[in-house]
Amino acid sequence: MKTRMKVLLSVLISLAITGIAYAGISGSKHDLTQGPGMTSTVIVGMCEYCHTPHNANTDTAPLWNHDMTGLVPASFTMYASGTLNGAIDAAPAGVSMVCFSCHDGATALEDFGGVTTGPTKINTNANLGTNLANDHPISITYDAVSDTGLHATTSAFGTITIANVLYGGKVECASCHDVHDDTNAPFLRLNNNTSGLCLACHNK
Ligand code: HEC
Ligand code: HEC
Ligand code: HEC
Ligand code: HEC
Repeated sequence: MKTRMKVLLSVLISLAITGIAYAGISGSKHDLTQGPGMTSTVIVGMCEYCHTPHNANTDTAPLWNHDMTGLVPASFTMYASGTLNGAIDAAPAGVSMVCFSCHDGATALEDFGGVTTGPTKINTNANLGTNLANDHPISITYDAVSDTGLHATTSAFGTITIANVLYGGKVECASCHDVHDDTNAPFLRLNNNTSGLCLACHNK
């Protein structure tokens, strides 16, 4: 092998080992194959903790394989404020409820594919609890017509548009987070070091 090639290879390998930003799930906190307390004896890939191609949980989307939170949507307290323009649902929508499969602090991380006996639960700040009154509103209609403080849904959101990150016209957990990519930690869709994520939607 040519020396130049060897150097390039070793640089690539060390980048792969020491990389702090993860361009995919592999090695990130959503790569549960390497997560703390993973005691499952079943060897599975990293997608399976959340998705399955067959026999998925049809109550939720998309092709969901993780045990859903035992909390019912009605037990969540939604964000409320006198200055909100958009309509907010009485409870989190399904695409946000799937996050609580793990982020409710009550459902075990190992509980997927029909297993419900895992021991490891999130007990850090990443346990959001059921009081969403202190969190950015979710399951809220993105109403740029009555709220001039919001950019039009056709405006750029990174390389896509705001409309692309809305679910049924609403802001959900996955509007700001991409569970599959930790390039902009913590799993943010856009780099927020200079409020780029906030300013993509808010005209401030
Ligand atoms: C930690 C849980 C989790 C893991 C692990 C995960 N996903 Fe997802 N995935 C989600 C959630 C939640 C959504 C819905 C929200 C959204 O659109 O991002 C989703 C949506 C999707 C979608 C539809 C929307 C889109 O982005 O195209 C595809 C396809 C997908 N995942 C594929 C995968 C594959 C392939 C893997 C493994 C390499 C994987 N996912 C691993 C949670 C996960
Ligand atoms: C299969 C379980 C699982 C699902 C489903 C899941 N997460 Fe996570 N997530 C985790 C674990 C485990 C951690 C690490 C928790 C810790 O550090 O204590 C984590 C951490 C995070 C973090 C913090 C990362 C950091 O660097 O501190 C964010 C943000 C996050 N998840 C967002 C989401 C969102 C949004 C959804 C739904 C769209 C979701 N997650 C669905 C398991 C999950
Ligand atoms: C409007 C954008 C936005 C929405 C919507 C949103 N997040 Fe976040 N989230 C952020 C940002 C920005 C951070 C990092 C700053 C911080 O920790 O306060 C973050 C941090 C987090 C963390 C890490 C918290 C910690 O202290 O370790 C978790 C876990 C998380 N979000 C999960 C969720 C879940 C689950 C939902 C839906 C219920 C959600 N987020 C909705 C923008 C959002
Ligand atoms: C995907 C688009 C989107 C992103 C990204 C986003 N927001 Fe929002 N935000 C909204 C929408 C929609 C509302 C509800 C506005 C309304 O109807 O009055 C809202 C509401 C708010 C409110 C409450 C306003 C009130 O009247 O109570 C604050 C504060 C806020 N966002 C701050 C932020 C911050 C800080 C960030 C970045 C971490 C952020 N937002 C990212 C869409 C977004």
